[in-house]
Amino acid sequence: MKFFVDTADIDMIRDLDAKGMVDGVTTNPSIIAKSGRDFIEVIKEICDIVDGPVSAEVTATEAEGMIVEGKKLAEIAPNVAIKVPLTWDGLTACRALTRDGHMVNVTLCFSANQALLAAKAGATFVSPFVGRIDDMAYDGMDLIAEIKQIYDNYPALETEILVASVRTINHVRQAALIGADVATVPPQVLQSLAKHPLTDAGLEAFLADWQKTGQSI
Ligand code: E4P
Repeated sequence: MKFFVDTADIDMIRDLDAKGMVDGVTTNPSIIAKSGRDFIEVIKEICDIVDGPVSAEVTATEAEGMIVEGKKLAEIAPNVAIKVPLTWDGLTACRALTRDGHMVNVTLCFSANQALLAAKAGATFVSPFVGRIDDMAYDGMDLIAEIKQIYDNYPALETEILVASVRTINHVRQAALIGADVATVPPQVLQSLAKHPLTDAGLEAFLADWQKTGQSI
């Protein structure tokens, strides 16, 4: 499973990239607003660090406007994936932009039927938001399993399942078990994946025993 990092924090992206954990990056208008930085500048900086797809989201709500914005975003770097919402206008824009050879990430997906439409429209990625579904007291991972089953039923559908709105390490584990193509993970969750109390305790014991030997390497 590929890891995308769900952030516009440049230092964090650099740090995780140095560990080989960054196959791509996702942003959205809320993430850009939180960064307090210029949208185009920040996407350009991320694209300079990361070779994989970097999602940048359009803010127009009509297909024509989305296509214009999408083309502008695609000019930033060849690895920009244009993010459009899962609306009829978004699907129209997706079709036009993918036909023009651009990567498109269809976002704000909350049902299997929506994911089917995204794939029919030729999306490169579909982003189902598992955390926000959990917030409504349903199980977001059930949706991932359904989409995986549907896409597997029809091998001609080439859209990748990009698990989004990831909030916990369990979301990551479940996404990998189901066989999702990508999980976009907030940096803090990604860092937590390496943590285990038995690793810490084991290391502490090894180091204490090593000190008793009086040796050094
Ligand atoms: C990524 O593409 C999404 O925009 C992001 O994962 C949304 O996460 P949130 O539901 O925590 O805002």
